Amino acid sequence: MGSGVHLCSALLLVFLLVLHHSSGFWIINVIFPPSAKVRFPSNSTPPLVIVPGNLGNRLEAKLDKPSLVNWLCYKKTEHWFPLWIDLNMFMPIGVDCWIDNIRLVYNRTTRRSSNSPGVQVRVPGFGQTYPIEFLDYNKLAGYFYTMVQHLVNVGYTRNETVRGAPYDWRLAPNENAEYFTKLQGLVEDMYEQYQHPVYLLGHSMGCHNVLFFLNQQPQAWKDKYIRGFISLGAPWGGAVKTLRVLASGENDGIPMISNIKIREEQRMTTTNPWMLPSEEAWPKDHVFISTPTFNYTNKDYQRLFKDISFDDGWYMLEDTRNITGDLLPPGVEVWCMYGVGLPTPITYIYDEDFPNVDPVDFVYADGDNTVDSFSMGLCKRWAGQQEKPVHVTEFRGLTHLDIVSHEMVLNQIQHILEGKSDVPQEIDVRSGTIYQKEK
Ligand SMILES: *[C@@H]1O[C@H](CO)[C@@H](O)[C@H](O)[C@H]1NC(C)=O
Ligand SMILES: *[C@@H]1O[C@H](CO)[C@@H](O)[C@H](O)[C@H]1NC(C)=O
Ligand SMILES: *[C@@H]1O[C@H](CO)[C@@H](O)[C@H](O)[C@H]1NC(C)=O
Ligand SMILES: *[C@@H]1O[C@H](CO)[C@@H](O)[C@H](O)[C@H]1NC(C)=O
Repeated sequence: MGSGVHLCSALLLVFLLVLHHSSGFWIINVIFPPSAKVRFPSNSTPPLVIVPGNLGNRLEAKLDKPSLVNWLCYKKTEHWFPLWIDLNMFMPIGVDCWIDNIRLVYNRTTRRSSNSPGVQVRVPGFGQTYPIEFLDYNKLAGYFYTMVQHLVNVGYTRNETVRGAPYDWRLAPNENAEYFTKLQGLVEDMYEQYQHPVYLLGHSMGCHNVLFFLNQQPQAWKDKYIRGFISLGAPWGGAVKTLRVLASGENDGIPMISNIKIREEQRMTTTNPWMLPSEEAWPKDHVFISTPTFNYTNKDYQRLFKDISFDDGWYMLEDTRNITGDLLPPGVEVWCMYGVGLPTPITYIYDEDFPNVDPVDFVYADGDNTVDSFSMGLCKRWAGQQEKPVHVTEFRGLTHLDIVSHEMVLNQIQHILEGKSDVPQEIDVRSGTIYQKEK
């Protein structure tokens, strides 16, 4: 058992190193020590709540299953154990056990998802930072660690002035009502405790959760409790990559799992259909998936789901498309930051074996190598739609994943939290050049 755990840790480390060189939607990163100099905790740090992206916080499970996909899988556990990241997913049979534990069962009649039979799932550590700093118990898969440590170095205190708001990222907001009630409670508590309105910071899909949350709140509530919203790498118009994930799967360079295998898990969550490129944001004739027999635009989603034998996806899309599809302004001061300058696929070209093979070619546009800059730049439209200021900073050469840990981003976040609203229009992270706003 003990040596098995060590073997798994070693495999995970290899996996992380390989992954770092691939363009991941998997928000996992190797760990960089933050550069900020250590200061003493201070009482003047405004409270901050971090909302992670898809796959971006730990999940735990407890089993008492009626049946197994393989006799080697666990049937019953006495205790809660890590479901994400579960080291078993990197083992040949373990991956089947893992998929059967983490999958959701979608009911087309009730339009609701439930856990796999006999599996209970919980989100550990709401209001604390550990479930978003590292995704695994061995602290190998770092996510928000570098940012949180940077904030601690400049005076923040973990679990006090900086807190995490993890959630069940398998579910879109229409099935996560309880989470938003807890988030509201957390914001109100922090406001009372520190006598200062709260900053919300999101990454990737986490920004859509924050936007949904803010859209639900009355303006008077936002004026009182929210100081601002810092959004990092948000796919405001959806992510084209989601189409590939659902069609043929995407292991993002994980060496031990095939794309087709990981697709089984990727098709179980309702958050993937929620993140499809929206009809409003994209030109009607833009082809997202091209096969020898058909060119799919965003008018063809129903046909696409049929052709890839994933009919539930269409229902999931119908359930989730109006949640943040209209991009209503958040009604609070916004700092919208994202990476640009990297080739990012906006069309996937398949051969006749579609959808059971990887794409054979790609059409690229500008982006952060995961999401295109057109989608991320849609936050600019809020400038004319709300009274509160909207600030946009583009980071040239910065990837989707690195935006949560890059020193130049962390310095900008620190400036904002120190009350300096003005931010540069563009920062080139490769040369370190900062372009201020045109006057
Ligand atoms: C879906 O939910 C309905 C209503 O609760 C139930 O009658 C039906 O059996 C469920 N379908 C499946 C496939 O579980
Ligand atoms: C934050 O909370 C977690 C879980 O209770 C705990 O392990 C950790 O030590 C706490 N961090 C600090 C700095 O108090
Ligand atoms: C898809 O679009 C490409 C590029 O416009 C075109 O060459 C091709 O013939 C189209 N394929 C089909 C099946 O319509
Ligand atoms: C989306 O549509 C459903 C059904 O019409 C409705 O109940 C829900 O409130 C809508 N959600 C938003 C965020 O507009």
